[in-house]
Amino acid sequence: MRLDKLLSSSGLGTRKEVKELIRKKHVIVNNKIITNDDFKVDENTDIIFVDGEEIKYQKYIYIMLNKPAGVVSATFDSKEKTVIDLVSEYSHYDLFPFGRLDKDTEGLLILSNDGKLAHNLLSNKKHVTKKYYVEVLGKLNENDINIFKEGITIDGNEKCLPAVLEIIESNEKSRCFVTITEGKYHQVKRMFETLKKPVIYLKRVEFGSIHLDSSLSLGQYRLLKEEELNILLNKKK
Ligand code: URA
Repeated sequence: MRLDKLLSSSGLGTRKEVKELIRKKHVIVNNKIITNDDFKVDENTDIIFVDGEEIKYQKYIYIMLNKPAGVVSATFDSKEKTVIDLVSEYSHYDLFPFGRLDKDTEGLLILSNDGKLAHNLLSNKKHVTKKYYVEVLGKLNENDINIFKEGITIDGNEKCLPAVLEIIESNEKSRCFVTITEGKYHQVKRMFETLKKPVIYLKRVEFGSIHLDSSLSLGQYRLLKEEELNILLNKKK
C-alpha cells in the first residue's frame, strides 16, 4: 500500500499532513529515508519509523464504548451526536457500530471497521447473546419469566426467540436482567410493553461473552483486549 495512506490510517495526520512529514524526511522505511509519498510499502513486513517511533499498521480496530444516553448509534447524523463522534481520536478509521442501541439506551457497544466480522456477528442466525440491565414500572413475577422463556409475541404477531429474565427486585419499580439472542427493533422495550410494564432505563451489559468494562464511565472507551477479540473472532469459546 502507499506509504502516505498507511501513515494517515495509523493516526499520524491527514493525507496532506503525512505527505509533508515524508517530504521533510521524518519517515524511514527499512533503514532508508523516504521522501516520495507514493512510495509503496508492504504493511506486513516493512519496518517503518517516524521521528524514531516504530509504526505498526493495524488494518482493523475494535473499540468497547460505554454508550451514554443522548447519542445515536449511527456513523453520521445531520442533527444528533453519534457514537462515532465520541471516539474522534480514531476518526481516521472508517468505524461503525456493531448493531444499534436506542438513543436513550446506555452501555456496551462495539465499534470497528471490520465489516466482515460485523456481518458475521449481527446475522440473526448466529444468535449472539445480548444481556441488558433493565428497570421497568410494575412488579415482575414467575409468570413473566415463563412468558419470556417460551418466546413472547410482541405487537400481536411478532414471535421472539426464548429469552432469559432474571429478576433482581420486584416492586412498583422493578429491576432485572434480560438476555436475548436476536436484535429486533426496540426489542427489549417492546417485550416489556407487551407485559404492560414499560421500560424506564435500559443498559446493555454483555455482548456475546464480552462484558462491559465496569471501569469505563459513560462515554468512555478502550480498545478490546486480545482475549475479548478472540471471543468475537470465535477463536475461543
Ligand atoms: N432493545 C431496545 O428496546 N432498545 C435497545 O436499545 C436495545 C435493545
